[in-house]
Amino acid sequence: MTSMFNSLETLPPDPILGLTAAFKQDPRSHKIDLGVGVYKDAQGATPVVRAIKEAEKQLFGLEDTKSYISQVGVESFNTGITELVLGAGHAALKDNRVRAVMTPGGTGALRLCSELIAKMNPEATVWVGDPTWANHIPVIKGAGLAITTYPYYDQKVSTNILFDAMMASLETAKAGDAVLLHGCCHNPCGADLSREQWQQVAELIGRKGLLPFIDIAYQGFGEGLEEDAYGVRLMADKVPEVIVASSCSKNFGLYRERTGAVLVIARNEDKAVAAQSHVAHIARAIYSMPPAHGGYLAGMVMADQTLRVQWEQELTEMRNRMNDLRSLFVRKMSEKGSPVDFSFIEKQFGMFSFLGISPEQIKRLRDDYAIYIVGSSRINVAGISEASVDYLADSLLAVMK
Ligand code: LMR
Repeated sequence: MTSMFNSLETLPPDPILGLTAAFKQDPRSHKIDLGVGVYKDAQGATPVVRAIKEAEKQLFGLEDTKSYISQVGVESFNTGITELVLGAGHAALKDNRVRAVMTPGGTGALRLCSELIAKMNPEATVWVGDPTWANHIPVIKGAGLAITTYPYYDQKVSTNILFDAMMASLETAKAGDAVLLHGCCHNPCGADLSREQWQQVAELIGRKGLLPFIDIAYQGFGEGLEEDAYGVRLMADKVPEVIVASSCSKNFGLYRERTGAVLVIARNEDKAVAAQSHVAHIARAIYSMPPAHGGYLAGMVMADQTLRVQWEQELTEMRNRMNDLRSLFVRKMSEKGSPVDFSFIEKQFGMFSFLGISPEQIKRLRDDYAIYIVGSSRINVAGISEASVDYLADSLLAVMK
């Protein structure tokens, strides 16, 4: 009998998650993990967010069943996340033309958004920035959609957004195509559109009849919860139809709970309800309904005044720490006489920036110095610490020689 599995070759490890597995196995005690986007405190730990821990205690007493939840998720979560992303007073909410579906993480949301686009317009091309999050491509392709890239960031020379080239490229998109944009804290490059640039992109998208597809996975990690939502809120103001994938992995620290949401903003309530029903129907054919736990927790934290204040404070602590680490790294590199000016890292936002070093240098960092970074030269700045920054800077300088 022939074996069906004979045709399968073992795949290489995931470019980001595979790094975590390799790091864990590395016995060197001085190792540094700047790979996967997970927040770390000064001790290198990723503790449960305090407000989430408190909500968990409350939920333990309150929860009296493990029966199925609604196909669209936990209602309090859906309300909370919609208001968090769009702002409670947004015109689209007043018009009652927004609906949410809770999802297994931001990745689940991205996949459902992609499947929805494929259902509405199988001929649509999704325009993604170059560079973009490594997993965007397989998630979108998995829904059977074609992908084209638009220039976004110049890693080599200017460390700037290639805005003119981006706009020129998007001018060639056809009506009905979707444009994937990072809501804030661009992953992997950390360079976000300015408000004026968002306005220009919104104008182009509206004029050409494109669908904005916004991935907002780091709300609150850049400049603040409100500030980071500027682009998505503007888009929902200026363009009648928008889809959003939101993640609670980072800002609520709910990584392993897999908690996220799809928001559909439609022209009217009827179409929002219709789009939501399709997203739920797509989810039913894959996993029926999202896991409940993380949604209950984030929903409680967003709705309860005390927990909300506590969470926002902790989020501010995380954000300030990452921004301070950016400055610390830049200062150390400059003090140690770096031949490269890394000051651009201080101007970027969120967890990630590129170092701009070569694959050989990345390999040497790992082999000779036990420093793990993603193959694109992306670093997770939250993986830097006060205790390790000198070793990191010295090692980097050594491989840059
Ligand atoms: C990352 O880019 O490191 C995170 O978004 C985690 C992931 O799933 O890749």
